[in-house]
Amino acid sequence: MILITGGAGYIGSNCALELIKNNENIIIFDNLSTGHIETIETLKKINPNLIFIKGDLKNLKEIEDVFKIHKIECVLHFASLSVVQESAKIPEDYYQNNVIGSTNLLNAMVKYNVLKIIFSSSAAIFGQPKYLPIDENHPKNPINPYGKNKLEIENILDDFDKKYNLKSIKLRYFNVIGANRENLLGEWHDKETHLVPNIIKSAINQKPFEIYGNDYNTKDGTCIRDYIDINDLIEAHKLAYLYLNKENKSDEFNLGIKQGISVKEIFKTVEKILNQKIDYKISQKRQNEPSILISDSSKTNKLLNWKAKTPLSDSIKSAYQWELKLQKKSI
Ligand code: UFG
Repeated sequence: MILITGGAGYIGSNCALELIKNNENIIIFDNLSTGHIETIETLKKINPNLIFIKGDLKNLKEIEDVFKIHKIECVLHFASLSVVQESAKIPEDYYQNNVIGSTNLLNAMVKYNVLKIIFSSSAAIFGQPKYLPIDENHPKNPINPYGKNKLEIENILDDFDKKYNLKSIKLRYFNVIGANRENLLGEWHDKETHLVPNIIKSAINQKPFEIYGNDYNTKDGTCIRDYIDINDLIEAHKLAYLYLNKENKSDEFNLGIKQGISVKEIFKTVEKILNQKIDYKISQKRQNEPSILISDSSKTNKLLNWKAKTPLSDSIKSAYQWELKLQKKSI
């Protein structure tokens, strides 16, 4: 059985869906602090035998019980608080949830001799880029508590490999966008902070979209990011799982598509796809934002045999269809 922590969230649920489609037996463990029970219900419609446990990684006993009762072979660890700006406001919650929660999970794994994990890490571990594109060996100097949490967990994973032979694959996500192809699951945050859903919400609700700063040292003054479609990202998890089973060694991979796109370019692409002018204004910069983040995913392409396939326009179309569904409350 595969344990998915954070399976009620955006990325964890999309991964759960794919594994269900591949007839894998899965258990979802989620405290529903940011994920949604409706997401679990959607997954249960596809596989009524899916086991969902409402539990919190901060509580060691709750996660130990999962390993005690079920025969787990591998863990996919998505559970995390993940809003960069929020992490600077409430670092204590971020350290508790992300670092202590992950440490509890790893201790429970070792106790029950489960020695394989795929970990959702982040481009935030790199901090301000020293060179571009960012490969796996780029210096790691995170500039916010969220990035520090993710790096700390990566370090703990390495120490657990040395001491307990626990093998981990760390996947460093760049900017994930889009919904799954059948429009069953997509990005759903109660307070949305991300670029693509925010532009789409502005279009649907006729409210001005806010561009956070237009005087960055980039071609059009707005930040540049590397946007990866959720379906391509999930494909990389499947390949990482196969790689871990085959090689039985720890490794790390950057997950982006090696293409930098500015906030303005994304905005214009959404306008074009929706065939609609969207009102916008320039707002204050977020604090400590890297102006450019682009992934060098050559290692991922080569060792995992992974290639991003989804055009940006398809990701935006799927994000739009999903947002319509969310707003009609027809999840
Ligand atoms: N942006 C806006 N207006 C908005 C929302 C975002 O201008 O309403 C801008 C941001 O300033 C940024 C870009 O759009 O320049 C992308 O912002 P997101 O919030 O979508 O994503 P981030 O790059 O801030 O963060 C994402 C993930 C993090 C992860 C990080 C790694 O959400 O979890 O990438 O680089 F840590």
